[in-house]
Amino acid sequence: MKQAVARAAIPHVVEGQVVGVGTGSTANFFIDELASLRLRIRGAVASSEATRKRLEAHGIEVLDLNEVSRLPVYVDGADEINRSLQMIKGGGGALTREKIVAAVAEKVVCIADQSKLVAVLGRFPLPVEVIPMALGHVRRELARLGGEPVVREHCITDNGNLIIDLHGLEIADAAALESRINQIVGVVTSGLFARRPADLCLLASGSGVQTLVAD
Ligand code: 5RP
Repeated sequence: MKQAVARAAIPHVVEGQVVGVGTGSTANFFIDELASLRLRIRGAVASSEATRKRLEAHGIEVLDLNEVSRLPVYVDGADEINRSLQMIKGGGGALTREKIVAAVAEKVVCIADQSKLVAVLGRFPLPVEVIPMALGHVRRELARLGGEPVVREHCITDNGNLIIDLHGLEIADAAALESRINQIVGVVTSGLFARRPADLCLLASGSGVQTLVAD
């Protein structure tokens, strides 16, 4: 299913332009599919070091986001997605760079299998990237939101920070929660992609790939 949905994303890549590339096992399938297009795109922007390495191994040129004036499309997976195409991301720890690339992209395409589609976000623990000095403070503030904050073990992000996974939330208003978490001093960003959700979701099931747009 991951390969099928990765392949279905290829027609969204704009020839002659730069493509934003996400992180994770589904995104890895997309990178493998993108290899055949490498001479027809200007290059790619990577949302993590792991993705940069995989792109380069396929001979795809990786550009610094600051060199890029236009990014027509960003393709990435998700840990959860709802019918409004709001997502939880960051299971792979790349949430901050993913959010930056998504902010620049004109179109965000989520590629996922049907297990990722949920009615209410929050069963998947919400990742929050934290400046190490602020860990105790942020953990206490996150606990006030009602969930159980757990520091992710043996995880340093590509930006040199830590991740707290916030367990046990039922996220009724994802955009409001995203704003609230952003206000906590010491938070770099959260894995809630609600204020900038996906524009479309390619969702794979046993019977094929369907396209979801926000309801
Ligand atoms: C990485 C992410 C991934 O997109 C998310 O974890 C989904 O990964 P996978 O495709 O392996 O299920 O946000 O930070």
